[in-house]
Amino acid sequence: MPWLVRDVVNDINKAVARRWRGLDLLLPEPSDLPEGCMAPLLSVAENGRPSGLGVCHHRHVPADTLAQTWGAATKFMLTVRLREADTRPATDDLLTQWRDHLETQPEAKADDTAAIVNWPAREVTGVQALLRHGLQPMAVIAARPPGRTVPSPAPPPGLVIRPAGPGDLGSVTELELGVVRYDAHFGGSVPRSATEALVRAESQAALAKRPGWIWLAERDGQPVALTVVEPPESATWIAGMTRPGATAYLQTMFVRPGERSGGIGASLVRHVHDQLDARGIDLTLLHYAQVNPVSAPFWHRMGYRPLWSTWEARPASTLR
Ligand SMILES: CC(C)(COP(=O)(O)OP(=O)(O)OC[C@H]1O[C@@H](n2cnc3c(N)ncnc32)[C@H](O)[C@@H]1OP(=O)(O)O)[C@@H](O)C(=O)NCCC(=O)NCCS
Repeated sequence: MPWLVRDVVNDINKAVARRWRGLDLLLPEPSDLPEGCMAPLLSVAENGRPSGLGVCHHRHVPADTLAQTWGAATKFMLTVRLREADTRPATDDLLTQWRDHLETQPEAKADDTAAIVNWPAREVTGVQALLRHGLQPMAVIAARPPGRTVPSPAPPPGLVIRPAGPGDLGSVTELELGVVRYDAHFGGSVPRSATEALVRAESQAALAKRPGWIWLAERDGQPVALTVVEPPESATWIAGMTRPGATAYLQTMFVRPGERSGGIGASLVRHVHDQLDARGIDLTLLHYAQVNPVSAPFWHRMGYRPLWSTWEARPASTLR
């Protein structure tokens, strides 16, 4: 990155760090900007001062990874840094420049693509600009701050919660696939021909590598619910979305359809939270689809709150 741009990045990052501290204490310090597909997009305010930077990153998600089940096959991600308290003008300007850039990219015209912006959930001033450019709020990254307690009524009678082991591969795979199918209603997941085999392989690896981080709830000896957590050493891919600490990622939560609304989900999550607290986890992150009617209220009742929202235009060519 040329020194001039680096100076602007440092300067804007300092201002963004100040603003984010006032906005949401769970946001990280803004890191150096990632390497993009070209020089950063720059927005300049009326007074001539740089007011925003945007870095575009093209990501091809391989078909033989489970990541392709959780979104478009080709992702164009814009990372933004916005200096002013009113983020709308700079957001608007950067998104216009980004749209013009994507229009020149033949690969952005394909169907299985998305233009994606991760946005601090409490950064409300720029939301109108995101909407104006055709971005839709798809997902939320929610956080459970340390020590947050929630009411804990008695668990449903006969419910047994236990760690899963390698012998539970069939049940774990089936319940994992339940989440994939349910989230597909909201565009959160995109089931692929390889999904089932990949879920099975990943579950097998997780059961072998991370015993004690996967829990099943059973009734009458039958598994009815599943929770899977990535410990801090596996959650580094998302830990940078919050301040430093022991950050875990709650990857999967599923209760069989006929067993819902009776307290099984809440009992299982309370059990898991007790374990995470005892293991010194500072913060737990998870994703839920913005319009999933059961997960948003459930997670908020369990002590989570929005930290980031993910905005997407699918396909990428619908960014306007
Ligand atoms: C989200 C999910 C895990 C919740 O599990 P659950 O077992 O239904 O959760 P609970 O029973 O603890 O709570 C659900 C509702 O039942 C109510 N409830 C709980 N115990 C109850 C009881 N004994 N009697 C009556 N109602 C009860 C809760 O108050 C809650 O009510 P609400 O929907 O009006 O808010 C489940 O719906 C699910 O698996 N959904 C599909 C997959 C999914 O969305 N996963 C999350 C992806 S991020």
